[in-house]
Amino acid sequence: MTGDFDYQGYGGRYARIRRGDPRIAAQLARALGPARSVVNVGAGTGSYEPADRLVVAVEPSGDMRSRRAPGAAPVVAAVADALPFPDKAFDAALSVLSVHHWPDLEAGLAQMRRVARGPVVILTFDPEFLAGWWLADLCPAVIAVEARRYPAIDRIAAALGGSVSVTPVVVPADCTDGFSEAFFARPEAFLDPAVLDAQSAWGFVTAGERQRFQAQLAAMLADGSWDRAHGHWRTRAAFVGAVRIITAQP
Ligand SMILES: C[S@@+](CC[C@H](N)C(=O)[O-])C[C@H]1O[C@@H](n2cnc3c(N)ncnc32)[C@H](O)[C@@H]1O
Repeated sequence: MTGDFDYQGYGGRYARIRRGDPRIAAQLARALGPARSVVNVGAGTGSYEPADRLVVAVEPSGDMRSRRAPGAAPVVAAVADALPFPDKAFDAALSVLSVHHWPDLEAGLAQMRRVARGPVVILTFDPEFLAGWWLADLCPAVIAVEARRYPAIDRIAAALGGSVSVTPVVVPADCTDGFSEAFFARPEAFLDPAVLDAQSAWGFVTAGERQRFQAQLAAMLADGSWDRAHGHWRTRAAFVGAVRIITAQP
């Protein structure tokens, strides 16, 4: 295992539920700017890899690597804190929803800075903003777990150095990706075991807590109490919650 969660055996559900959202991809493309060559660290099954640039993916999990689409960018089996590339080998370095898994965050970010001539772009969750939606009322345990796992934005910025900007990400109500906030308007999704299995957070709460949450949510949806308390979330077109893009120029 190379991070805090073992993705071996999870790749199938992950690939089905976690499909990169084109609107979030457009926000990442703006952060990458004119970069032609990009290394994508913690690439998983290939979500958010720009098709119009030269991409090299880095992914330690064999299961995730095996589920990359035919024709996807070449993938190297490696971890963030030992990137097997020369200094300044790429125009830019990208990492999407991966830094919270790394055993040595600063070492991984230093490696990304080392191999990129231009921007290092990190998509992650700001732990200070995770509780800003209805899941925090129904399952505070999973929010607390996530708040402990995600590194502070300031820590990432300090490790990258240079000129750093932090941009909140707009998550659309019909987001095709399957991280938890993506379902802010679709509570029924949390009753699907495949959705929870594709979100590593649920591997850090007890099975009993996961069952309790799902039973409570199912009951609240059935008797209308979820809609009375939280139904306004169904009508929002988008949500700016905890997802952030950090861009560090050298
Ligand atoms: C939540 S997935 C994100 C995958 C992909 N970037 C996406 O957005 O769908 C996290 C990925 O980070 C990878 N990972 C875990 N530990 C890592 C490490 N030390 N270095 C690089 N990647 C790592 C996992 O194997 C997994 O594929």
